[in-house]
Amino acid sequence: MDNQQLITLALKARENAYAPYSHFTVGAAVLTKDGLVYTGCNIENASYGATNCAERTAIFKAVSEGKKEFVKIAIVGGKEGEEIMDFAYPCGVCRQVIAEFCNPVEMLVVVAKSETEYIEKTLDELLPLSFGGSVWNI
Ligand code: THU
Repeated sequence: MDNQQLITLALKARENAYAPYSHFTVGAAVLTKDGLVYTGCNIENASYGATNCAERTAIFKAVSEGKKEFVKIAIVGGKEGEEIMDFAYPCGVCRQVIAEFCNPVEMLVVVAKSETEYIEKTLDELLPLSFGGSVWNI
């Protein structure tokens, strides 16, 4: 699965975003170690605090289906109904959730405006010195 294909799936997932409060719509597509893709969108809530980001929607879908190892995630976000103008990097909470299920120096985070305009980082670049389960001797 190359970056372009994963971005296409994230763009498609973004179409399902539920963002009546911020009008900022996000899509994500996460690739599992065994080659499957799970997609997600942001799902807002009138309480604001119960909002779920696109990345976590995709990851929670995968984990709930028994997939717990990821190698790459593509993320796209921008104002609803408009052309994507900026790179929408994952929020801190999503970075921590991604960290739970990957090798941070191998996990690739592809932040895209389109299939041809994207930036690729490792999770370790986005979340260095992260807190992890090894502290708990897991
Ligand atoms: N959002 C995401 O889906 N992913 C992120 O990493 C950052 C923010 C969503 C949450 C909210 O619905 C909207 O973008 C504005 O913050």
